Amino acid sequence: MNVAVVGGQWGDEGKGKIIDVLAERADYIVRYQGGNNAGHTVKTGGEKFVLHLIPTGILRPEKKCVIGNGVVVDPLAFSSEVNMLRSRGVDPAGRLYVSDRAHLLLPFHRELDGLRERLRGEGRKIGTTRRGIGPAYADKASRSGLRLCAILRSDFSRRVEERCREVSRMLQALGGESVNVEKTVAEIVDAAEVLRPFICDTVTLLHDAVRRHERILFEGAQGTLLDLDFGTYPFVTSSNASACGVAAGAGIPPSQVGRVLGVIKGYTTRVGEGPFPTELNDDTGTLLREDGHEYGATTGRPRRCGWFDAVAARYAVMVNGIDLWAVTKLDVLDRLDPIRICVGYEYRGRRLEGFPADSEVLAEVTPIYEEVPGWRVPTRGVGSFDDLPSQTQDYLWRICRLTGVPLGMISLGPERTDTVVLKDPFSEDAK
Ligand code: GDP
Ligand code: IMO
Ligand code: MG
Repeated sequence: MNVAVVGGQWGDEGKGKIIDVLAERADYIVRYQGGNNAGHTVKTGGEKFVLHLIPTGILRPEKKCVIGNGVVVDPLAFSSEVNMLRSRGVDPAGRLYVSDRAHLLLPFHRELDGLRERLRGEGRKIGTTRRGIGPAYADKASRSGLRLCAILRSDFSRRVEERCREVSRMLQALGGESVNVEKTVAEIVDAAEVLRPFICDTVTLLHDAVRRHERILFEGAQGTLLDLDFGTYPFVTSSNASACGVAAGAGIPPSQVGRVLGVIKGYTTRVGEGPFPTELNDDTGTLLREDGHEYGATTGRPRRCGWFDAVAARYAVMVNGIDLWAVTKLDVLDRLDPIRICVGYEYRGRRLEGFPADSEVLAEVTPIYEEVPGWRVPTRGVGSFDDLPSQTQDYLWRICRLTGVPLGMISLGPERTDTVVLKDPFSEDAK
């Protein structure tokens, strides 16, 4: 059985932590989309790691990790992440495989990302991480991208140079800085040398793993509501962050995706712009931000915070086919009483069925709330479901009832050990 771990909200649900726990039970941990816009945090034994591009599973010494064809790889970010890991005693050599079909993210993509945001003007900005993700995927879709297999060719530097010159002309026409071609080519050729030994045919590698019935854990980045097709377009990322991206981004058949574990916080957060119906711009929002340390793991931006949104969660269940929930950060709700859950949306006097496609409609909806009692006792590190206050148990049951998905895991603190596994998603009879 393989398992895909996907974000059920707008990212930062605690996927890194959940993946770190499940990685112990897997053979391969595979990133299938996104790039170093992700920030996945793992805390273990008082140490904190934040992974952006390399799968979180790398922190488990014996595990094999794959960066799949669907990922966009910034060689500079890759090289600095490898250095960070090595400096902290984690060696990815011999157990990290990067797809030769993955696309390169080059410095001018970052430049274009910033420039496009500036050109959008106030009120229309997406609030991207400015890592160059959108422009790199745009090059892939418009068939002008360079892939990692190009690094293995003797004319790699000439190809980078050609592409830099093309983009430089475009940047100048848009009013941006021209590309410093010599500097960029030199930087990229250097960083590509770090990347080179990791590049291989990961499609065949994973097919062989599937044939041997090895366990694959797919590590989603971002979240369903940031998915290019199903998220709150245009305030989304440029890849399929939901489970539908797994097969295309890892190169395995859809029938092998296996079980889908959705990760959700006991409340909601969002970084960047775009509609967010349950957002709280008051003391409760501030309490969630401070108690939950809701500041971006990639950009350090304060995250917008709000109540749990069961309408959005039901939509995530539908889009991903979520089999089990992992509910995280319940301890952050310890001081709140009552707690509110959004159970419906009202739009211009009528109740909406489903999650609207139009972000302007979503921005106008009024959430319909249900109130449940809080528990007002610390739950950080509670080791079993039965030891939780009855109100916490009821809150979890309510989320499961409203979304029609059983509870697989709960998280009550950032440490690896602050996790309770109720149903092992890898086991055949977990549903
Ligand atoms: P990801 O992008 O989905 O991997 O999530 P991030 O790592 O960006 O953000 C999650 C943050 O919450 C990190 O700082 C984690 O250390 C922290 N975290 C994860 N689970 C819990 C939890 O159950 N309780 C608390 N208090 N913090 C948690
Ligand atoms: P993890 O994997 C939260 C958001 C950005 C912006 C939008 C587009 O840590 O959950 P992009 O740079 O991708 O073009 O930005 O998506 N975003 C994330 N928000 N967590 C993430 O990743 C995110 N990756 C991108 O803030 O709103
Ligand atoms: Mg994150």
